[in-house]
Amino acid sequence: MPPLLAYQLAAIFDQGSVVDLFSGCGGMSLGFELAGFESLAAADIDPHGNETFVQNRPGREAAIDLDLGDPAEHRVAVKEIRKRVGSSGVDVLVGGPPCQGFSTAGNCDPEDPRNRLVFSFVAAVAELKPRALMMENVAALLFRRGVHVLRSVVAELEALGYDTSLAIVHAEGYGVPQLRRRLFLTGTRGGARWPDPWCELRPPGHFRLQPHREGVERLSGHTVRDAIADLPMKTAPNLNADAGYGSDASSDYQRWVRGEISLCELLPEPAWVAADHPTVEEAASALRSRT
Ligand SMILES: C[S@@+](CC[C@H](N)C(=O)[O-])C[C@H]1O[C@@H](n2cnc3c(N)ncnc32)[C@H](O)[C@@H]1O
Repeated sequence: MPPLLAYQLAAIFDQGSVVDLFSGCGGMSLGFELAGFESLAAADIDPHGNETFVQNRPGREAAIDLDLGDPAEHRVAVKEIRKRVGSSGVDVLVGGPPCQGFSTAGNCDPEDPRNRLVFSFVAAVAELKPRALMMENVAALLFRRGVHVLRSVVAELEALGYDTSLAIVHAEGYGVPQLRRRLFLTGTRGGARWPDPWCELRPPGHFRLQPHREGVERLSGHTVRDAIADLPMKTAPNLNADAGYGSDASSDYQRWVRGEISLCELLPEPAWVAADHPTVEEAASALRSRT
């Protein structure tokens, strides 16, 4: 998850604490932290991801290294999260359960055991009772093979008392130099809203499912050149050596990455779009018609 995107989506929620399941290298946690949230716990099965999680956030607590799909390990993880969170509870529970079984980039195997992990996220919601939640997954969860899973997830969250809102977020619309589309599901108690994209939405896309204001002029967005043109052509002599930059920063994006300007200077003031709450069926049909 690009931290730049997570930062902008974090503003959907009131600031507070965040717990990140399936935290990987920590892009989601980092974005929430940049947005002023206190990251209290994270969990993932992958030791390499967990190692990166710690290296990106020196001095912070490591992610809980457990299999959230295994009932016994899930219980241990929830117990450890409760211990780290304490009596004030979790404000926002976020998670990006694996998507390989739904993704069009993979074999789309409906029997892939990882497909059940979205329900491990829902189980953690039931146990931890966060004030709000956000789950990220591939847009293909709205395709025929995934839609019954998504329908069950939404029904379970609604039964737990959350108002859900679905969107296909176009990362390039938020200044991320990547044509990345992901399904986001939020659960709140009361009205939901989405940040209006401030950069152009590029085809092919799922524009009806990306909350946005009509008739707004948008910036052209950040390119890969904006992001990395200042990297050196030569490689560092070893992994621990600093290769330095290849040139001066030539974009605000590069200046932000170097720490020369803040996110407030890189990004415009957010504008908001009220969520229009498409049902899973309406969203799936909009996705099929690709508008
Ligand atoms: C899509 S990535 C999440 C990326 C993350 N949200 C970020 O911002 O970097 C899915 C993650 O699920 C983790 N995962 C897969 N199976 C798992 C399991 N059974 N228990 C816990 N984590 C698991 C993977 O190691 C991977 O890091």
